[in-house]
Amino acid sequence: MASKTLAYAISALILLLQLSSSAGQTVVKGAYWFPGSGFPVSSIDSTLFTHLFCAFADLDASTYQVTISSSNSAQFSTFTQTVQQKNPAVKTLLSIGGGGANASTFASMASQASTRKSFIDSSIQLARNNNFSGLDLDWEYPSTTTEMTNLGLLLNEWRAAVANESNTTGKETLLLAAAFFYSSDYYSSIYPIQAISNSLDWVNVMAYDFYGPGWSSSTTGPPAALYNPTSQVSGDNGIEAWIQAGVPANKLALGLPFYGYAWRLLDASNNGIFAPANGSALSSDGSQTYSQIQDLITQSGYTTVYNSTIVTDYCYKETIWIGYDDNQSVSTKVTYAKEKGLLGYFAWHVGADKNSTLSSTASTTWG
Ligand SMILES: *[C@@H]1O[C@H](CO)[C@@H](O)[C@H](O)[C@H]1NC(C)=O
Ligand SMILES: *[C@@H]1O[C@H](CO)[C@@H](O)[C@H](O)[C@H]1NC(C)=O
Ligand SMILES: *[C@@H]1O[C@H](CO)[C@@H](O)[C@H](O)[C@H]1NC(C)=O
Ligand SMILES: *[C@@H]1O[C@H](CO)[C@@H](O)[C@H](O)[C@H]1NC(C)=O
Ligand SMILES: *[C@@H]1O[C@H](CO)[C@@H](O)[C@H](O)[C@H]1NC(C)=O
Ligand SMILES: *[C@@H]1O[C@H](CO)[C@@H](O)[C@H](O)[C@H]1NC(C)=O
Ligand SMILES: *[C@@H]1O[C@H](CO)[C@@H](O)[C@H](O)[C@H]1NC(C)=O
Ligand SMILES: *[C@@H]1O[C@H](CO)[C@@H](O)[C@H](O)[C@H]1NC(C)=O
Repeated sequence: MASKTLAYAISALILLLQLSSSAGQTVVKGAYWFPGSGFPVSSIDSTLFTHLFCAFADLDASTYQVTISSSNSAQFSTFTQTVQQKNPAVKTLLSIGGGGANASTFASMASQASTRKSFIDSSIQLARNNNFSGLDLDWEYPSTTTEMTNLGLLLNEWRAAVANESNTTGKETLLLAAAFFYSSDYYSSIYPIQAISNSLDWVNVMAYDFYGPGWSSSTTGPPAALYNPTSQVSGDNGIEAWIQAGVPANKLALGLPFYGYAWRLLDASNNGIFAPANGSALSSDGSQTYSQIQDLITQSGYTTVYNSTIVTDYCYKETIWIGYDDNQSVSTKVTYAKEKGLLGYFAWHVGADKNSTLSSTASTTWG
């Protein structure tokens, strides 16, 4: 009798362990790294993260295979070992595509079973050969109903392939993630919700680039507003859209920009959010890393403001105005993510926060 009870208890325990491992990640504290940031991989404080994304692998437009460019191969192949020196538990994902990649090539690849297979098989091989724990799709953006349908096929086939590969090799299943638009609705094309829920471990929700001098040049704006009293464009609206559409909250990671945008004010004394402006300041597209902004604040005497209604930081001096996320925006957003039951957050990008100020704030806030 007693041994039977014990046997039941043990099998129940085993089942529980299996369930908890198949249930996936418990939290994602993530960040992207890319070689062009000039930030050495060895300088990443990986103790502040659970997952690090190495960006970007490329999609070959003729073979539809995923490749790593020769200039990136040395840093990519040692990425995992390097970041695991400080944090042996950190998981790494190879990110494919990115904002600079040609979205049409992804659309062509996803449109046929044979080219999807080229993508899938080569991505798995590349991940294994370079010691990554997973793969991350950054197709910016599928933009028609057909492309959304094909994205769904790609994700389902990718999931089946990584499951099969794990089965046949005995290795831990590769993680599958994707970076998507801030909302489940991409200008009236709806992401394939069922495939995303079934086949991805989680989604990185890119809740930033809402306002920038390149596309909203005549007024300043909160680049990554969590709330927006004047429009639908906000992190909260995007997260709500994803959840309403049917992706479980615990498969969503909220994007945090470790950068901001600088505008030129028309009038130095009119320096609030949505103040009249005339394009970018400080760089051609106005972008500034958080570290650059920190230096301006400490060395050039900028005035800093946190707006808790919108959840944005901004700073200004004379006719330069910069919208960005500082400690308060980051901690408010991370608290929001936790209270909403999201899986976590991720940052673009780790090298923009050289002193790990925001990475520490985010990690400490989540707990
Ligand atoms: C993007 O890819 C498509 C199809 O592969 C090609 O026709 C187009 O010229 C490419 N665009 C750029 C900017 O490279
Ligand atoms: C992968 O990691 C293992 C253990 O850290 C190491 O022995 C191996 O050389 C690495 N492989 C590559 C391709 O870097
Ligand atoms: C993995 O192996 C199990 C047991 O052999 C089998 O039932 C399952 O269908 C396999 N899954 C895949 C994706 O190959
Ligand atoms: C399953 O994996 C094995 C080994 O990785 C591979 O040879 C086989 O083609 C895969 N099958 C499918 C259906 O992907
Ligand atoms: C925050 O920004 C909004 C939009 O500009 C403004 O209406 C509001 O007064 C600001 N809140 C504070 C406390 O400054
Ligand atoms: C904006 O700047 C451009 C030059 O960069 C100038 O020609 C134009 O007059 C400015 N517009 C306003 C409203 O000041
Ligand atoms: C960042 O760290 C560097 C080197 O430790 C230091 O000189 C700089 O003042 C720090 N910047 C800020 C804004 O804390
Ligand atoms: C931001 O938070 C960090 C700790 O996470 C702290 O060291 C730093 O002084 C704070 N910076 C500002 C500008 O509040």
